[in-house]
Amino acid sequence: MTHEMVLILDFGGQYNQLIARRIRECSVYCEVHPYTMPLEKIKELSPIGIVFTGGPNSVYLDDSPQCDPRLFELGIPMLGICYGTQLMAYMLGGKVVTPDSREYGKTITHFDSSCPLFQDLPSTGVTWMSHTDYISQLPDGFTATAYTDACPTAAMENPSRKFYGMQFHPEVLHTENGIQMLHNFLYKVCGAKGDWTMGDYAKTAIADIRKKVGDGKVLLALSGGVDSSVAAALLAKAVGNQLTCIFVDHGLMRKNEGDEVEAAFANSGVNFVRVNAGERFLGKLAGVSDPETKRKIIGEEFIRVFEDEAKKIGRVDYLVQGTIYPDVIESGVGDAAVIKSHHNVGGLPDYVDFKEIIEPLRLLFKDEVRALGTELGLADYLVWRQPFPGPGLAIRIIGEITPEKISILQDADAIFREEIAKAGLDRDIHQYFAVLTSMRSVGVMGDGRTYDYTLALRGVTTTDFMTADWARIPYDVLERVSNRIVNEVRNINRIVYDITSKPPATIEWE
Ligand code: XMP
Repeated sequence: MTHEMVLILDFGGQYNQLIARRIRECSVYCEVHPYTMPLEKIKELSPIGIVFTGGPNSVYLDDSPQCDPRLFELGIPMLGICYGTQLMAYMLGGKVVTPDSREYGKTITHFDSSCPLFQDLPSTGVTWMSHTDYISQLPDGFTATAYTDACPTAAMENPSRKFYGMQFHPEVLHTENGIQMLHNFLYKVCGAKGDWTMGDYAKTAIADIRKKVGDGKVLLALSGGVDSSVAAALLAKAVGNQLTCIFVDHGLMRKNEGDEVEAAFANSGVNFVRVNAGERFLGKLAGVSDPETKRKIIGEEFIRVFEDEAKKIGRVDYLVQGTIYPDVIESGVGDAAVIKSHHNVGGLPDYVDFKEIIEPLRLLFKDEVRALGTELGLADYLVWRQPFPGPGLAIRIIGEITPEKISILQDADAIFREEIAKAGLDRDIHQYFAVLTSMRSVGVMGDGRTYDYTLALRGVTTTDFMTADWARIPYDVLERVSNRIVNEVRNINRIVYDITSKPPATIEWE
């Protein structure tokens, strides 16, 4: 890759990925690596700047993470954030102390506007603080460039060595103009050109894939989710009909979803195989109501179906996976570095004969994957698709699954999604869907008694899907959804809204 790059050394702070995303939003490519990365490797990367992240430790403790001191002699511009700033100060001869109280949250901060980081910005503003220790004495050659009531060194600089530090977190949106401060570091201090755009990335990635694949055959399991769709679009541009996409439609997709995926890829110049396996899955699921058993059956059947199709193609050279960057970032702290491995469709490589895996999205964050999808001409409904679980509607139909229940849920869910989109809430609520409970209750419609299903609506806001809050959907939107579903979808006479967060509940019901 020929892009200029910024190296982020991770000292274990909670916002490390956020720093990387912000830098990339400024059109500069960056990578996050553990602070233990060897000096030689760092030199090989030849970064235009190095950022030290925050971290939970006190710099002066024996076992606190420290970087290689020779890093400071490379002549590369550096930016410390929170712990990173304290570490820079400490390792260069300054003093860090622990006061009685910590400084946490939104804090009024005063800036020296002659510092390049704060140039052309207001001289007073709110920053996001999250620290106990502070720098009580600066190293030689440094001056303080910001202060707060509690912290004499809220920022520091040594312009001749191009070393800068901020005690607060510019990457967090609570810090006013924080992104501009990062932008200033990148452009005014590191001299970045800003050569990281998804247009350029697409061109480079397509050329790289072509070179690697040659005239080989490529196989991709398409789920219709954002990652596999964007990977497919990229591979399609790169190798056209050398690519085969297998889309296993298990019949548990949302309304029209199978057709939408087909419409997006069937005429894109690749070999597109849609396997309509609905009946096969339903057969296996008949009479099964335990959630874990349902999940297991679907997972296994998925592999079986995929395997059957892949066998028809014979040997393939490359298998594509939609791994994205958050899954490959190694944490800078901990005894063993944690690397999460991610497979869009679990277990496939064991069953398919292939030479090598291609992961064309491995360097990208989710928002970049979406931007790349748009760049490649994918429709918004694919690019902005919310997460959808592999087992599909099977885990949103409580208890036994029947074709009738699938159809009821598809119709109700489609109305919910349509009204959320109409209300302009579809990008604010990160996941929202309907659940068909197995409960029936008494109602009255027209002059008659009904005894029908209760439908639950679920909407959550979240950053990582590990924890989530229930979305405060306005009452009038809920009212429209409720009226429409009861009027338009048969067999539903009662609608409830799920107001539990995660934890203690999970996002899905099963
Ligand atoms: P839970 O229900 O665990 O869901 O709070 C967290 C997120 O993961 C999605 N999810 C799945 N995704 N296969 C997937 O690919 C699955 O089996 C699965 N189960 C849950 C869920 O939709 C939510 O976004």
